[in-house]
Amino acid sequence: MTPAFGIYIHWPFCQSKCPYCDFNSLVAAGIDQEKWRNAYLAELNHYASDTADRAVTSVFFGGGTPSLMDKTTVAAVIDRIAALWPVSPELEITAEANPSSAEVAVFEGFNAAGVNRLSIGAQSFNDRTLSFLGRLHGAEEAKNTLEAASRIFDRVSFDLIYAHPGQSAENWRQELIDSLQFASELNIGHVSLYQLTIEPGTNFHRDRMAPADDEIGGQLFEITQEITEKNGYPAYEISNHAWPGQECRHNLVYWRGEDYIGIGPGAHGRLTTDIITETTLCHRAPEKWLDAVQSTGAACQKRQKLTGEERFEEIVLMGLRLKEGLSQQRFRQLTGQSLFGKFDRDNLQFLEKEGFLEISDDYIRATSTGLQRLNAILDRLLN
Ligand SMILES: C[S@@+](CC[C@H](N)C(=O)[O-])C[C@H]1O[C@@H](n2cnc3c(N)ncnc32)[C@H](O)[C@@H]1O
Ligand code: SF4
Repeated sequence: MTPAFGIYIHWPFCQSKCPYCDFNSLVAAGIDQEKWRNAYLAELNHYASDTADRAVTSVFFGGGTPSLMDKTTVAAVIDRIAALWPVSPELEITAEANPSSAEVAVFEGFNAAGVNRLSIGAQSFNDRTLSFLGRLHGAEEAKNTLEAASRIFDRVSFDLIYAHPGQSAENWRQELIDSLQFASELNIGHVSLYQLTIEPGTNFHRDRMAPADDEIGGQLFEITQEITEKNGYPAYEISNHAWPGQECRHNLVYWRGEDYIGIGPGAHGRLTTDIITETTLCHRAPEKWLDAVQSTGAACQKRQKLTGEERFEEIVLMGLRLKEGLSQQRFRQLTGQSLFGKFDRDNLQFLEKEGFLEISDDYIRATSTGLQRLNAILDRLLN
C-alpha cells in the first residue's frame, strides 16, 4: 500500500466572517487570483525539491472558502501537483464549499479540474439557526447546494454545528435524524458534526456568548453517537461520521500522524525523513504570505525538528480522536519507538479499569465514554 502523503492548500478568503469562526480567514475585496495562483505554484515547486519521491495520496483545498477560488487556479494547482509528484491511482482531491458561493457552474469547473470530493459547510437546515450563526444562506439554499453537489461529485460531505445556546436534546435528535435521512437520499456518505465552541477573537466571544454547559454538551454528544450509529453513519473520529470506505483520507493523514505539506497563509506541514519529523509553518497574514512567496519564492516561516517527546504528544493528541485509536505498529513505523513504552503503565491501567480506554496488543483506543472526556484523559496521559 502507498504510504499516505497529503497536500493541503489554504485559501484564506470568505464572503463574510461568521461570528463563531476563528479559522485563518478574512473578507477582502479585489483578490488578484492570478497572483495567488502563481504563488501556490511557486510554493509547490519549492516543496517538491524535498519530497519528489513521495506519491501524493490526497489533496485538500481548505479555508476560508475555496469555492471562491477561480476554477483555473484549482486546475493549475492540481496539474502542477501531477507534474511534480507521482500521484496515487486512488488520489482523493477535496474542496470545501460554502452554499452561498457554490453554484452548479463552480462545481462543474472544480470537477473538470480534478476535484473528486466536496465538503460543504451547511451548518444547519433550519433558517433560524443559520441566521443565529450569521450565515449568508438559508436552509433551502443549503439543501439545493447539496443536491447539485451530489449530482456532480461521487463523494460529498457536509458540516453541521450543534449545541448552540438553547438547543434542546429533542430538537437536535430530530434535526440529526432528518439530516441523515436527507444525506442518504442523496447518496452522501460522510458528515462532520461539530459542537459549537466559543473561540477567543470571534464575535461570539466578544458578545460573551455562552457555550452549552458540559452536561447538555455531553447529552447532545451521546445523542449524536446513538443516531449516527443507528442510521449507518458511525463515528470514525470524534466529530466525523461516514459510511464504511467514505472516510476522508486526507484528514486521516493528520489524525494518524502521517506526512503532509501545507501551502497557503498559516498552513502547517509535517515531513519525516528517517523517523525525524520536521514541522513547517507559513506566514499567517495573507498579504505577508503572498509578499514572501513573490520576493523569495517560499513562504515557509519556520521549519523545526520535533523532539521525540513532541512527536509522541502530537501523535497521541491526534490519534486518540480516532475510533481506531493509536496503533503500536504505526507508531513504530513513524518514530522507531514502542508506543506502550512511552506511557506511564499505572495511568494506562487506571484509565482502562475505569472504562475510558480499551487496550489490546496493538491498539490503545478511547471508549465512547472516554471520547466524551478526551481532554481530561489526554491530560492524565501526557502530564
Ligand atoms: C472552513 S469551514 C467550511 C467551509 C466554508 N468556509 C463554510 O463555512 O461553509 C470549516 C467548518 O468548521 C466548522 N467550525 C468553524 N468554527 C467552528 C466553531 N467555533 N464551532 C463549531 N464548528 C466550527 C464549521 O462547521 C465549518 O463548516
Ligand atoms: S465558517 Fe467558513 S465561511 Fe464562515 S468565516 Fe469560517 S471559514 Fe469563512
